[in-house]
Amino acid sequence: MCGIVGYIGKREAAPILLNGLKRLEYRGYDSAGIAVVNGEMQVLKRKGSVSNLEEFMSGTVMIGATAGIAHTRWATHGSPSDRNAHPHMNVSGDIALIHNGIVENYTSLKKDLIGQGYAFTSETDSEVLVHLIDRIWKADPSLDLEGAVRQALRHVEGAYGLCIVSSREPDKIVVARKGSPLVIGIGEGEYFIASDAAPIVEHTNKVVYLSDGEMAVVTRNNYTVKTIENVEQEKRITELDFSLEKIEKGGYEHFMLKEIFEQPEVMRDVMRGRVRLDEGRIQLGGIEDYLDRLKQAKRIVICACGTSWHAGLIGEYLIEEFARIPVEVDYASEFRYRNPIVTSDDVVIVISQSGETADTLAALRLAKEKGAMVMGICNVVGSTIARETLCGMYTHAGPEVGVASTKAFTAQVIVLFMLAMALSKGRTISHDEIRLYLRDLADVPDKVARILEQNDAIKEIAAEFKDAKNALYLGRGFNFPVALEGALKLKEISYIHAEGYPAAEMKHGPIALIDEDMPVFFIATRDNTYTKIISNIEEVRSRKGRVIAIASEGDSEIGRLAEHVIYIPQASGPVMPLLTVIPMQLLAYHIATLRGCNVDRPRNLAKSVTVE
Ligand code: M6R
Repeated sequence: MCGIVGYIGKREAAPILLNGLKRLEYRGYDSAGIAVVNGEMQVLKRKGSVSNLEEFMSGTVMIGATAGIAHTRWATHGSPSDRNAHPHMNVSGDIALIHNGIVENYTSLKKDLIGQGYAFTSETDSEVLVHLIDRIWKADPSLDLEGAVRQALRHVEGAYGLCIVSSREPDKIVVARKGSPLVIGIGEGEYFIASDAAPIVEHTNKVVYLSDGEMAVVTRNNYTVKTIENVEQEKRITELDFSLEKIEKGGYEHFMLKEIFEQPEVMRDVMRGRVRLDEGRIQLGGIEDYLDRLKQAKRIVICACGTSWHAGLIGEYLIEEFARIPVEVDYASEFRYRNPIVTSDDVVIVISQSGETADTLAALRLAKEKGAMVMGICNVVGSTIARETLCGMYTHAGPEVGVASTKAFTAQVIVLFMLAMALSKGRTISHDEIRLYLRDLADVPDKVARILEQNDAIKEIAAEFKDAKNALYLGRGFNFPVALEGALKLKEISYIHAEGYPAAEMKHGPIALIDEDMPVFFIATRDNTYTKIISNIEEVRSRKGRVIAIASEGDSEIGRLAEHVIYIPQASGPVMPLLTVIPMQLLAYHIATLRGCNVDRPRNLAKSVTVE
């Protein structure tokens, strides 16, 4: 949610900042802006994507500036427009500020500031921050920028990742974090600041993650980190373990397609060193010391949002099936506001690709407060959720740039599968059964690669449905969450209204929607629900709905019932979601691109939702 980049060093700041914004654009693309300090402050900002800003900048002079900040916005308060774009400036134009997050008490702060003569030029909550800093600094000129920011933040309620520069102190950038991530990249005589590591990785792999409630002053020669209360902090330097290549498109037209195609490799990475096929066991380093406590949980509660929540639902089915521990799956946003009953006998598992989702983070904190043991499943190494959980497992899917989550989902499901196996071992299923299921899991990457070979055929099917207004996705058992995920993928990138349902629920309402224009995507693989699904298909056919089936190879019956069939390799029910979701991702991708949608940057969305 909003991307932040800062640079201070010996090189031209503007190109570094612009390039950084491009790498961060998946965090928001409503507007973009840049401020550099070169004697005086220069600020340029533009509605729309970073390329709009770049075009607008060509011919303008930002040459010679070696410090600056830049922002790409996902609008919360105030529509996407030039004037609502960041950076925001104080009236005298010598302080510039960029903000990620929400200032919750901005209305009262704004009223006070207006009362004191401050004129606002935008509708954003963020602008109050720059005027507040200005007011505090003017009232006490003995302060420096850092001191003024520190004092201002005492008045601020809400969440922020902030970067501030001033032409009065041109050789520093002041940053602060509460609720919105910030990373400092450490180069040779230069420093980079960003809301995630993507813009930093091409310059350095050494980073420092700020924690909530910390501020940093970054100069050309060093950086110091203190709490907002002014207590100096020792920070650990972390080495990033991903390369530039991993965050580039590598010949694919979109990040989403690249990430879909990366899945066989990612799946192998997720399992590497963890699935010990020869010994028929699972080795989960991140939770090893806590496994006994996990096995003794009276109940497991899984909290997540969006696609991660769908993975959590599959986790519920897997853990209950294998480990026989009761599981509940909650939307993190509901969990935090409904006064849930959670005790120290419970284990709460939070799942998040980004590790920064505000609702999931709040659910984690609430669960901790209530005494539960909290475990995380995150993709982004060093993310806030990863750091605040007692133990956890990384999904090792590599950076996911496409706003629509694909490889992170399948990686989460594999982690949950391995967890379910680890929880079952020695308790609920035999060693031989574990061995068989692990064999099945280990075969998944090759099977996914075979499904991906059908990309062209899937594109042809997509072409037939690109003008649909609505779509239904139906599945049962382990494949019900995949139906939800298929519908979410389609709606978020193609803007076609889509619903996912347990197939048997169709007759309790959605069946009324079916007519000759309604595509119905059935997941009808060979498992214990197959015959029931076939009956559901018949029900749709008799109402003239258009049936597209995802079915098991060798199923000779289904071709007679469905208009189109996408055949996938056979596998056992518990691993099936890892296969059935692949055609869902490809269908959504192709339908959206054939409609001319920008799948990597769907409207109104951002990659990580760090606001409530
Ligand atoms: O980073 P997280 O996994 O916590 O994100 C949760 C959701 O915001 C995310 O899955 C969202 O639903 C995606 N756009 C789905 O493709």
